[in-house]
Amino acid sequence: VVGQNADLVVSNVVLAPDGVPRLAAVANGVHPGPLIKASKGDRFNLNVINKLTDKHTNDTSIHWHGFFQRGTTWADGAEGVSQCPIPTGSSFRYKFTGGDQTGTYWYHSHIGTQYCDGLRGPMVIYDKNDPYKKDYDFDDENTVITLADWYHVPSRNLALNGTAAEANSTLINGLGRYPEGPKTPLAVFNVQKDKRYRFRLVSLSCDPHFEFTIDGHDLTVIEADGQLVKPVVVDQITIFAGQRYSFILHANQTKANYWIRARPNVGFGDLENIVTGGINSAILRYVGAPEVEPPVPQLPLPLPKLPLLEPDLHPLSDEIAEELTREPDFARTLQIGRTNGSNPVFTINGTAWTVPPMPIMLQILSGAKNVSELMPKGSIYELKRGWVVELTVPNFVIGAPHPFHLHGHAFSVVKSASQPGEPRNLINPVRRDVVSTGSNTGDTTVIRFVADNPGPWIFHCHIEFHLRDGLAIVFAEIFDEIKAANPVPQSWRDICKAYEAAHPKA
Ligand code: C2O
Repeated sequence: VVGQNADLVVSNVVLAPDGVPRLAAVANGVHPGPLIKASKGDRFNLNVINKLTDKHTNDTSIHWHGFFQRGTTWADGAEGVSQCPIPTGSSFRYKFTGGDQTGTYWYHSHIGTQYCDGLRGPMVIYDKNDPYKKDYDFDDENTVITLADWYHVPSRNLALNGTAAEANSTLINGLGRYPEGPKTPLAVFNVQKDKRYRFRLVSLSCDPHFEFTIDGHDLTVIEADGQLVKPVVVDQITIFAGQRYSFILHANQTKANYWIRARPNVGFGDLENIVTGGINSAILRYVGAPEVEPPVPQLPLPLPKLPLLEPDLHPLSDEIAEELTREPDFARTLQIGRTNGSNPVFTINGTAWTVPPMPIMLQILSGAKNVSELMPKGSIYELKRGWVVELTVPNFVIGAPHPFHLHGHAFSVVKSASQPGEPRNLINPVRRDVVSTGSNTGDTTVIRFVADNPGPWIFHCHIEFHLRDGLAIVFAEIFDEIKAANPVPQSWRDICKAYEAAHPKA
């Protein structure tokens, strides 16, 4: 655990969390990276020191997922958008404020598919006046559960030429097993009978979503992606890449061991293995229970009775979000497509995102006069101050479901995918920062937000292989104000010089 003023040393180390050694890229020598813990209103000063040695990929750039970065779009970390990459041997300080944001976040490399190789970790902003403290009276809120897909080969070799990636194992808090692999240790979460816990669930996934359950226990969901929600009691949470939830766990069962499961939609292993071998699993252990693994359950596993459905999530506050109170000023359908050929790429409205030679923020500071001058052409959408923006994203079946993330904002999910009969909700839809576009033909997702944060902000599929292959656009939000609203420090310009020196043009 580190605080809001910390050094994150990025390096390559060999890890074998499931028994198979491989070269990983990590922060402070561990996977996942250390929990960054702060309090509401804190300023962050995070010094990223690049000591990567892997010659295939030794630049880095870190994104603080879920932070709005008002006035500090230069600290948003997105490759090709916010800053020049940090070359090995250099360091860069990310300074930003959490403002009034609280709850559960994470950080990850935002260059290529580097975070799939381990450069990712959780962040929590505690609020001593959290309304749930009095209503729920939970005894402890220090537990963070991270879910991560883990590969035995470097991500640069995965999902090429239109193939799909399949993780070898699911790591819960950095520990896991793969089918036919050794019985490596699993994560154990200790609870005391009759206490209430606020658990924070963070998907560090690079691709799969997970069906998360804890045998014998209901989960009361109270937060989604940093936004407090009205409590919903569920027995299964489907969590997509980049999403977070807080739930209350009441340890009111018999003192024993219980399986915690995170079953991925891809890379399952066979069911027998999962239930007998502790694959995709961790352990909930009551104090006083023996230090053994839970018993092997009967097959088939019971189906969830109360799965979490996104339309059941509503903001804790009854105030209607501004983006719902007016007709949209900018309504756009984002049609996902895919090119043919041996190196297919994804497109949005016909264009594949590619990393421009100069990050968009640098293009803006270097004198781009209007949005039409920005590169890459066809991927940049202008938003004017105060606009209500409505994006409609029809499902695209190849590689579905696609979880989309917007930088610089949370948005209202006016319509969730996979809920065909569900009408649009313009009163109290959940606000969050990652939403799935569904897996069924005909699924459509609709989101809204207000353009009030000057900056270039990327909107992309959080399956990293899809982002690498073009599934992104960028909003040039309030273009005329970006420069003045986001004063860049000299160190930001210096990193561009260091990057250029490290990568001389041929
Ligand atoms: Cu979690 Cu664009 O990132």
